[in-house]
Amino acid sequence: MTLDHTARLNDVDPEISDLIARELRRQQEGLELIASENFASRAVLEASGTLLTNKYAEGYPSRRYYGGCEIVDQIEQLAIDRVKRLFEAEHANVQPHSGAQANFAAFMALLEPGELLLAMSLPHGGHLSHGHPVNHSGKIWRAVHYGVNPATGWIDYDEVREVARRERPRLIIAGGSAYSRILDFKIFREIADEIEAVLLVDMAHFAGLVAGGAHPSPVPHAHVVTSTTHKTLRGPRSGIILCRKELAKAIDRSVFPGTQGGPMQHVIAAKAVAFEEALTPEFREYAQAVVGNAKTLSKELAGRGYAIVSGGTDTHLLLVDLRPKGLTGKDAEAILGRASITVNKNTIPDDPQSPFVTSGIRLGTPALTTRGMGPVEMVRVAALIDRALAEPDDDNLANVRKGVHELTEAFPLYRNHVEIVA
Ligand SMILES: Cc1ncc(COP(=O)(O)O)c(C=O)c1O
Repeated sequence: MTLDHTARLNDVDPEISDLIARELRRQQEGLELIASENFASRAVLEASGTLLTNKYAEGYPSRRYYGGCEIVDQIEQLAIDRVKRLFEAEHANVQPHSGAQANFAAFMALLEPGELLLAMSLPHGGHLSHGHPVNHSGKIWRAVHYGVNPATGWIDYDEVREVARRERPRLIIAGGSAYSRILDFKIFREIADEIEAVLLVDMAHFAGLVAGGAHPSPVPHAHVVTSTTHKTLRGPRSGIILCRKELAKAIDRSVFPGTQGGPMQHVIAAKAVAFEEALTPEFREYAQAVVGNAKTLSKELAGRGYAIVSGGTDTHLLLVDLRPKGLTGKDAEAILGRASITVNKNTIPDDPQSPFVTSGIRLGTPALTTRGMGPVEMVRVAALIDRALAEPDDDNLANVRKGVHELTEAFPLYRNHVEIVA
């Protein structure tokens, strides 16, 4: 039997096609508050779903190990040029398949196995890929961690300096996945310089805010900046590394041939599209709105008796301490899920609960802001969250779900994009 190359997904594989259609409805009908998620534009989705997936292009533009790369060379060069312009970076590598891959490649370029790195601890808002024992980064390199002051929820830079002076790490990492305050990159660099360490900023979470001018840029301060492209930056699921010219060769070699094989040119094309989108005035407005919405959501929840770690937020995310409400993060995530409100449980600093239970939830506004929601809707979102958590019985949750659907109906997503459903 020959495969019909022209058949649509729906005809070839109705099972997968149906599941994608169901996921589309889930995204359309729910309130997406996961801080690391966003809704990529139709243009980004189109680029990432193209025949560029067919092309092998090991190497870099004009220096490939395969023939037929003259078109993808132009695509990758556009992505590089655009991201350099977006972040005013000296050098960019757009090939990392994801944020964790970007970090791994950067660490491999900067550290010898067994050397020491200093990063924010996972339970205080860091990331697994920053030397956690269950991640290979914690096996290949030794890691020490700093946290936040449990009383304030803010990073204590004196503590970071003290640990750095005592432990003398080769690499210092700033940036994490659940810290809602602006990081002081200048102090991090001073600390790194004092002990002759390298400073890497992982801006995976707040890259879109930097791109849109709603957050200071780490690029002038850090030796290397890694990022994902799919969170606040609103591109395809992927990663990037930015660095100084002097480190360009080491970083490039570490990505390929060091850690990856062929780059995903369809995703690189989609990244180029996302970078172009992020260079627009509309994206600047979007980034400001994301932060404004997070501040409103934080204030509204605080007004309803929720404790907000660090007392608020400067970014796209907030960490809610549920202990005043007698709830765990695990329970809250499940209750809100039944009301079509998607959040993730999250440890709070010095959490008395295990990481599987937790005392907190992490909320983020990038996705809802992409739908066009603003402060008025954030007040409604806070009220819906509170109503669900206050009375988690079936009748009440059905009512809350109705309120959620009314809200999401008013802010349509991917409407009339039939091709997205294959
Ligand atoms: C700070 C940080 N770095 C790296 C990553 C890993 O990104 P990816 O899931 O694309 O590998 C994440 C993802 O949550 C993150 O928050």
